[in-house]
Amino acid sequence: MSDTQHNIPNELKATAKAHANIAVAKYWGKRNSDLNLPFFDSVSFNVEDLTTETTAVWNEDDFRDALSINGWQVPEHTLGRLTRILNTIRSLTGITKRCILSSKNNFPLSTGLASSASGYAAAAAAAAAAAGLELSESELSSLARLGSGSAARSIPAGWTRWHAGNLEDGSDSHAVSIAPPDHWPLHVFVIQVSEGPKSISSSEAMQQCQSSPYWPTYLQQASQAADFAQNAILQRDFAALTEAMHTNALQLHALAMTCNPPICFFAPKSIEILQHILRASRGIQVCCTLDAGANVVVLCEETAYPFVKNDIIAFGLPFVQSRIGGGVTVQAKPPHLSSE
Ligand code: DP6
Repeated sequence: MSDTQHNIPNELKATAKAHANIAVAKYWGKRNSDLNLPFFDSVSFNVEDLTTETTAVWNEDDFRDALSINGWQVPEHTLGRLTRILNTIRSLTGITKRCILSSKNNFPLSTGLASSASGYAAAAAAAAAAAGLELSESELSSLARLGSGSAARSIPAGWTRWHAGNLEDGSDSHAVSIAPPDHWPLHVFVIQVSEGPKSISSSEAMQQCQSSPYWPTYLQQASQAADFAQNAILQRDFAALTEAMHTNALQLHALAMTCNPPICFFAPKSIEILQHILRASRGIQVCCTLDAGANVVVLCEETAYPFVKNDIIAFGLPFVQSRIGGGVTVQAKPPHLSSE
């Protein structure tokens, strides 16, 4: 973040809104866990209707940084990842104040619905804007990555690719948009199989997965997944997208089930939906994925939409119906005083 500009705002407050993202080629495993640097590239799409909106205020009078999510005060000792983002902003701007963030999610936390992605993306964008820090999209993506790796991909719009990068400081590890939301206007269904919190965090699970005897094979296969997924997306090739999503997701879950101790993210209903979509995908343009949780995310083309929607209603579970979403937006950027 060397070419950053810094203007001192006269009111140190801003609001940002970010969308959750769902990976087609998933991030799984870190070469540096302090900086959330991945072993390989990943590819995802933003979900228009799953959002986090966060207001950040830099305040002289407070002694410590604070975050509330949907009115719940997050315990201070769990703010570590957010503190990394805020300390980076402090060191880039020279601000010594504390940052108070209040966040609203329109979906449940920690159920595999990628709340950390939209959460850290919105927090990073709001806190940086409130501090008057003008970052490029790549720099903002790198900053959000410090909170949660997948948050890097909620900064750019539409279909995005997170370049793993090679540098030790992570300055080349950020996401870029590979296609805008309207490039391929698929339908997205996020089926909420579980409302409870996840039994293991993604970070811990990624670490644990390296104990699987299949880890070396997974690493080799997953490292090629982003190129395959990106080509499928750029060519709007639904058969290739289906292969990319199903192969990548099931390899991740097979890895999780074969590590020590084993991790099974599926709930019985996840398996039922998965089997149904795998069967349906042989006849119509529909496919699905599961992240590190029990929920199932389904994508389909317009032609398959009426059938898929009926099937999803028949599962009898709550679901969010959406489209491919945009990038982070800063809604209340404060007026700036002249630059230093
Ligand atoms: C399965 O980004 O939540 O959703 O960097 O430790 O916060 P941390 O992990 P996180 O992991 C997401 C894992 C995944 C795959 C993906 O989104 O690419």
